[in-house]
Amino acid sequence: MQQDTITTFKTQFEEEVYTGLTAFPKHLSSKYFYDALGDKLFQDIMEMPEYYLTDAEFEIFETHQHEITDFFLAGDTPFNLIELGAGDGKKTKVLLRRLSEKTKHFTYQPIDISQHVLDGLSASLLQEFPKISVVQQQGTYFEALERINAGNKGRKVILFLGSNIGNLLHKQAIVFLSQVQALMQEGDLFFVGLDLKKNPQTILDAYNDPKGITAAFNKNVLARINRELGGTFELDNFLHWEVYDPETGTAKSYLVSNKEQTVTIDKLDLTINFRPWETIHTEISQKYDDATVNWLAEQSGLQVTKRYTDANKLYANYVFQKKQ
Ligand code: AVI
Repeated sequence: MQQDTITTFKTQFEEEVYTGLTAFPKHLSSKYFYDALGDKLFQDIMEMPEYYLTDAEFEIFETHQHEITDFFLAGDTPFNLIELGAGDGKKTKVLLRRLSEKTKHFTYQPIDISQHVLDGLSASLLQEFPKISVVQQQGTYFEALERINAGNKGRKVILFLGSNIGNLLHKQAIVFLSQVQALMQEGDLFFVGLDLKKNPQTILDAYNDPKGITAAFNKNVLARINRELGGTFELDNFLHWEVYDPETGTAKSYLVSNKEQTVTIDKLDLTINFRPWETIHTEISQKYDDATVNWLAEQSGLQVTKRYTDANKLYANYVFQKKQ
């Protein structure tokens, strides 16, 4: 019976929505926040004063740009600067500007699943930095990294910014870091942005803005189910709810049903009942301290070789290398 159902799924989205909404407790993956509307909402989040992460990482790049780029240059040996999940490249451009002043011997290879994102980024880079050689890499991170490794044995500096790793539980983060580690060679650098533990109120405020932008972002997964799978979610019948555990450093987002209700999803031939105050867990945004970062590195065959932070110590960029 279950096998019959599974074979009818046309996409991973369909399968994960089915699995997540028939589980107990219910859950949906935050990777499904990001369609055209979700991308726009995330851009708006990054501009919110409460969402300190973007400004803090930008400040680190501005303040330490010489040191960071000198570290990347490693005595001006040629390298490929590879960015996992490039987005609009706003922060990376600070480093690209400085690098392009110091050397010609690098290519910038943004990896993104969305060709649309890559085209937008390439166009703006061509305008701002016509001399930088940009090689778009469309696909998943690992497909693209393997392709880069197969075609070019040159030194790699891999960027993974924005505390994107924080959307993974530690166990998943170790799998991810180990996969990147396996594709690194001695001398390659892995430059990762991580949000730090801090006053818990600052974290709750960043994920619970008064204008409701984060709520709309969280609810966009339900809106997508409505748009793409013929769902009947009434968005007003769900609350956006954020919790933060200062012990583990895990911030969690939920959608909470504010009444007893039934939702149908046409394409999945599925009816889901919600009890009053029943939850759908949608996202984790992990916050870190040095001990945890060192432990994650250790577990993944990596070591921390440098760390940069902003003046308020809200956020840090770590450089990992393959453990000798
Ligand atoms: C993309 N990611 C690192 C963001 C975060 O902070 O977890 C997504 C986000 N969710 C709510 N606000 C921003």
